[in-house]
Amino acid sequence: MKRYAGQTVFVTGGNKGIGQGIAKRFAEEGATVVIAAIDRDTPEAASALAAETGADVTGYVLDVTDAHAVRDTYEQAEARHGPLSVSVQNAGVITIAKVENLTEREWDLNLDVNTKGVFLCCQEAVRRFRASGTKGRLINTASGQGRQGFIYTPHYAASKFGVIGLTQSLAKELAREGITVNAICPGIIHTEMWDYNDRVWGEMLGTYGPGELMAEWVEGIPMGRAGTPAEVGALVAFLASRDASYITGQTINIDGGLIMS
Ligand SMILES: NC(=O)c1ccc[n+]([C@@H]2O[C@H](COP(=O)([O-])OP(=O)(O)OC[C@H]3O[C@@H](n4cnc5c(N)ncnc54)[C@H](O)[C@@H]3O)[C@@H](O)[C@H]2O)c1
Repeated sequence: MKRYAGQTVFVTGGNKGIGQGIAKRFAEEGATVVIAAIDRDTPEAASALAAETGADVTGYVLDVTDAHAVRDTYEQAEARHGPLSVSVQNAGVITIAKVENLTEREWDLNLDVNTKGVFLCCQEAVRRFRASGTKGRLINTASGQGRQGFIYTPHYAASKFGVIGLTQSLAKELAREGITVNAICPGIIHTEMWDYNDRVWGEMLGTYGPGELMAEWVEGIPMGRAGTPAEVGALVAFLASRDASYITGQTINIDGGLIMS
């Protein structure tokens, strides 16, 4: 199945975790893939994905909170690979703290990366879709915490509720141009971020050993297991496909049935 042959897809945070699962799925389906993330080894991650899939994959080091850098990176990507047709805003951070210990810096970091960063990349992608006349696709990674706040993460929850709001607003603005904008809400997906969650929430919520908190929470998922980056990649590739042509402004949970609203 090469649904994305001839298309260029931009994925933020595509060097590892969920973003890597998304980038890999597009690469396997024939896309030229651009990954952009803050980690220094992002170009090497791109080379590894290219070697694994045989696809054309380029990696840029990018801080999505820096509007000039965002513009510059999209410009470089299009100069090299031609017009983009899909942009996936997936880069994100989390920190966990009791309300009186939550610093302004943490608040700003979560809102800047998770919400402003998503907006800046959507904005730049839209400029480019409009310039090339592309009926492009925007897919934004929110979270189960964009549906329901969770203990010790008011800043993260606020940032992810924000992603859903900006997704709906942009979807309305862009609908008549044939550009669709959707959000996804992963539940528990085993990545480095989840290892951090397991450790820090585990310490704060009781005497959990490594992996024990995650195991307890996974037990509460109707499907009884965590999800994989590959499963998230499959959803994103669907939302970016022709089969999803009449879907916009939607927020799709991908969480084994954890949240059903
Ligand atoms: N893992 C989960 O269970 C889970 C659940 C719900 C939502 N999410 C969301 O999924 C997305 C990916 O999470 P993950 O679990 O793969 O995490 P991860 O920690 O494995 O990866 C995070 C990615 O974001 C990138 N990033 C962070 N700050 C950045 C910045 N300023 N500029 C550019 N890139 C930056 C990192 O380089 C990395 O590629 C995030 O938005 C996260 O909030 C994850």
